[in-house]
Amino acid sequence: MHKIGILDSGIGGLTTCSYIFKVMPDVNVIYYADTLNAPYGSKTRAEVYAAVKTGVSYLFDAGCDVVVIACNTATTTCVKVLRKEFSKPVVGTEPELKNVSDDTEKPLYLATPLTYENIKNDSFGTADTTCLSKVIEESVFCEKIRREVAGALVSEKQNKVVLGCTHYLYLEKFLSCKTYDGGRGVANRTKTVFGANYRKTKRGGNLFFVFSGKKSFVKYLTAFSDFDDFNRNKT
Ligand code: DGL
Repeated sequence: MHKIGILDSGIGGLTTCSYIFKVMPDVNVIYYADTLNAPYGSKTRAEVYAAVKTGVSYLFDAGCDVVVIACNTATTTCVKVLRKEFSKPVVGTEPELKNVSDDTEKPLYLATPLTYENIKNDSFGTADTTCLSKVIEESVFCEKIRREVAGALVSEKQNKVVLGCTHYLYLEKFLSCKTYDGGRGVANRTKTVFGANYRKTKRGGNLFFVFSGKKSFVKYLTAFSDFDDFNRNKT
C-alpha cells in the first residue's frame, strides 16, 4: 500500500492533500501539521529548515514512500538540502510562476514574508501578508473572515493572483479573478514518483493526522472537507 507523507506548518497542505487524493484516491496519507513551529513565514531560514527536517524524518521513519512538502515557504527555503539528506524522494511546492506573466499585466503574488525573500521577483505585485497564514489558520470556522480578507487583499481590478502559500488556497473560492497555485502540479509529480509501481487498491484513501504541537482534529477535518468540496467541483 502506498504511503505518502505530507508536511506543512498547518492546514495549508490539506489543499495539496485534496489534489493528491484526486489523482491517487487510494493512497494512504500521513499528514504532519507542524503546529509547534507555525507559522513558518515569519521565521528565519535556519528555524524553518530545522523544523522541516524534524518533520520529514518523522514521516520517513513512519514508513512513507515519499514526502511532499506542501508548503512554499519550506520548499523555497530548504528543499534542495533536504533532497541531499534523505535517500527517499522529497517533492516540493513551488509557487506557480510560469505562464502567469505576460506583457499586459502584472499579477499579484501572494506569499509569506520568507517566501518573498527567497524568491525575489519584481515582475509581480506583492501585498503585506505578515499574519495572513495565521488568520486563515484561525478562521476555518468563519467564512465571513476569509471573504473579508480576500476582498481586502485583492482589488476588483486585479485579474490574476498567484496563491504562493498553500494556506491562501482557502481564499480561492472568494476570488473572482484567475488564480494560480502549484497544487495540481505537485499531485501529478507525486504520482510520477510511483511510476509503474502505482497500484490501485480499494483499501487506501485514508488520512491520518500527526501534530507536532497543539492537536486540532475537528478543525483539520473541517478545513480538509471545506477545500475538498470546492476542489472536487473545479474543472
Ligand atoms: N502554508 C505554508 C506555505 O505554503 C506556510 C505558511 C506559514 O506557516 O506561514 O508557505
